[in-house]
Amino acid sequence: MHEFKYRRNQLYCEGLKVEELARRFLTPLYIYSKKTLLDHYLKLKKAFRALDPLICFSVKANSNLAILKTLVDQGAGLDIVSGGELFRALRVGCPRKKIVYASVGKTNEEIRAAINAGILFFNVESLPELENINRISGLLRKRTRVALRVNPGISAGTHKFITTGESTNKFGIDLSTAYDILQNRRYFVNSDICGLHMHIGSQITQSSSFVKAINKIVQFIYRLKREGIDLEYLNIGGGLGIIYDKETPQTASDFSKSVSPALRKTGQKIILEPGRFIAGNAGILVVKVLYIKNTPKKKFIIIDGAMNDLIRPALYGAYHSILPLKVTGYGAQDTEKYDVVGPICESGDFFAEGRIMPRVHEGDLLSVMSSGAYGFSMSSNYNSRLRAAEVMVNKNKASLIRKRDTCQDLIRNESIPRI
Ligand code: LLP
Repeated sequence: MHEFKYRRNQLYCEGLKVEELARRFLTPLYIYSKKTLLDHYLKLKKAFRALDPLICFSVKANSNLAILKTLVDQGAGLDIVSGGELFRALRVGCPRKKIVYASVGKTNEEIRAAINAGILFFNVESLPELENINRISGLLRKRTRVALRVNPGISAGTHKFITTGESTNKFGIDLSTAYDILQNRRYFVNSDICGLHMHIGSQITQSSSFVKAINKIVQFIYRLKREGIDLEYLNIGGGLGIIYDKETPQTASDFSKSVSPALRKTGQKIILEPGRFIAGNAGILVVKVLYIKNTPKKKFIIIDGAMNDLIRPALYGAYHSILPLKVTGYGAQDTEKYDVVGPICESGDFFAEGRIMPRVHEGDLLSVMSSGAYGFSMSSNYNSRLRAAEVMVNKNKASLIRKRDTCQDLIRNESIPRI
């Protein structure tokens, strides 16, 4: 499942002791296992091999150039949502015909840049956006390929902040509007509507909602076919859940088995946009215990990492397992109930609340597991904290793939005006 394992009571990432990496690169530190990253990509590729889909890694999950390059070198495409992500995709040499671009609010500049780059297609999220892409394409004298992101109106049974396929969500186009657009596609003279896209949410652990949504779209595809509208692509988005705690998510092969027959019948080229499934368990965040603070009501472990480094617990109440780097000497009786908190001036700055853990001491190092997706990519400089360093491990080698911020980085774009 992943390459962060204990050997002789020490946590290793592939062939390297995590503790040594933390001493060398300091903390807070993101560490990624290249093998785990590739294993997950290949697992999905294998599960879907009969359909031979284009797997576009969702850049928002982890946008580090080294991560993107590793996947692109294996044949992955990229799912982007901004001009910045387009820049990253081009920087790692992603073939342009393997880039798909979603987002409800693409600006004129972003649309122009993506058209000029020659991406595979835009995932269009509204009629006004389609009109705008069509207009800009005309100005650039280009014909642009677009897929309509449809909103199937289906609950994904996940956290409400990461549910995207319900009819009250801002994402996608309802099926009846999509139908009207397709009926009138000849009016969008600079656009080639070549596919449909859906993405119903993230961290989905059961395939039933995927199956429901896909069946609904497949029915829609048949309705279109009957009317002579034959589209080339079906992009089923991302959303596959992973294990953070006690979840029992569908495996890639279960998922494939439950959706492939219906997908195959459409005859369309299939695209997947996984983010978390590939990167989530491939990364950890290593933090150091600064203080143990005992209050009349609670014991707090105060660490040097904070919500600016990993916001998922604060934002979604997300669970991340927190493990000591060394397990020597702990017995079952040596556990305590702790809140694991960062130094930021907000009570929401916690990684765990009321967590039973082996007893922890000042100076100990802890690993916050499954932090490879939506960890560093959602980090910030809040409280003028320096963003963490990132390291990639490949067998017995580690390389720094992002330097820790410096104070100069914090103020690089600021100036004090003389007014
Ligand atoms: N495609 C589209 C259009 C998306 O919006 C997303 C994620 C993905 C693909 C990839 O989804 P995944 O396979 O990673 O579930 N920050 C949240 C997750 C937000 C997901 C946003 N969209 C978290 O930390 O749980």
